Amino acid sequence: MPRQNMEDNAMAPMTSSGNGWEILADEREIAERILELKRERNAIILAHNYQRPEVQDLGDFVGDSLGLARKAAETDAEVIVFCGVHFMAETASIFCPHKTVLLPDINAGCPMADMAAAREVKRVRERYPRAAVVSYVNTTAEVKAVSDYCCTSSNAVEVVRSVEAEEIIFVPDRNLAAYVAERVEGKRIIPWNGFCHVHQGISVEDVLEALREHPDAEVIAHPECTREVLRLAHHIESTSGMLRAASASAAREFILATEAGMLYPLSKAAPGKRFYPPAREPLCPNMKLTTLSKILRSLETLAPEVKVPEGIRVRALPAVERMLAVTA
Ligand code: 13P
Ligand code: SF4
Repeated sequence: MPRQNMEDNAMAPMTSSGNGWEILADEREIAERILELKRERNAIILAHNYQRPEVQDLGDFVGDSLGLARKAAETDAEVIVFCGVHFMAETASIFCPHKTVLLPDINAGCPMADMAAAREVKRVRERYPRAAVVSYVNTTAEVKAVSDYCCTSSNAVEVVRSVEAEEIIFVPDRNLAAYVAERVEGKRIIPWNGFCHVHQGISVEDVLEALREHPDAEVIAHPECTREVLRLAHHIESTSGMLRAASASAAREFILATEAGMLYPLSKAAPGKRFYPPAREPLCPNMKLTTLSKILRSLETLAPEVKVPEGIRVRALPAVERMLAVTA
């Protein structure tokens, strides 16, 4: 994957290139300063698998939403620098009200999380009074506060199976809702009509075109993809699940039906294997907003901070605690 030219600072000349991802002289200096400040501030850097390679390389932990939420809940650090999107930083704030949670670019949102508002969820709840609300972690803290359970892509099936109610309002991803409904018996899933534009945009034809070029490849897909794309998949996994699946598989080549940032952690986890995006490379612009210079600035200024108001936090906490309790 070529380096995306979306930095907010000018690019310095390239000084070396290791496994195809460039290391820039300026970036090395910024990274060193970040590491110094991180020690001074007693901070931890958590990075999602879709982040830019240089941001992932700096992370104390790189993972999927579930892994990142777990790390945030466990850490002793006083400051959490969240290299991801807003709902992830909010989840960290729900678990850690006394820590400073930083989101280096406050505009890094998740359009899918914004497709459900708490007042709408309450209204649907009134229509289905016997139903439980399971909300994907890709929701606002306000929505979590009116939900019974929270889940991530890696434990959505287990969470829904663990719910006593037979009717479940699943918010906001209709594709993940359909994926869960096909795997859980005895429950009626009432899906919200939300979606991730990045995964919704991956078409069957995009995947087939990549498969024509790499006919021996296995397809790894994220459950936010459409049902039609999931039907082509050999593996359906959360982002960290993809690392395990690619390493365990006997296949040498893979088409990735997910955001292209995954190419980097996969190439590190399974160095002898080859990974290809679908015909049109899927990119989440929000995930690319975090840069080294923004991380440095946020550690210098301890801003922008994401802090969930206490009244919302205490109501959202049980749902996110259940999310962690379901899977060890
Ligand atoms: P994961 O929890 O699988 O990392 O997914 C997060 C996400 O936003 C996918 O688009
Ligand atoms: Fe949200 Fe989709 Fe980006 Fe994930 S890839 S953060 S679901 S917009």
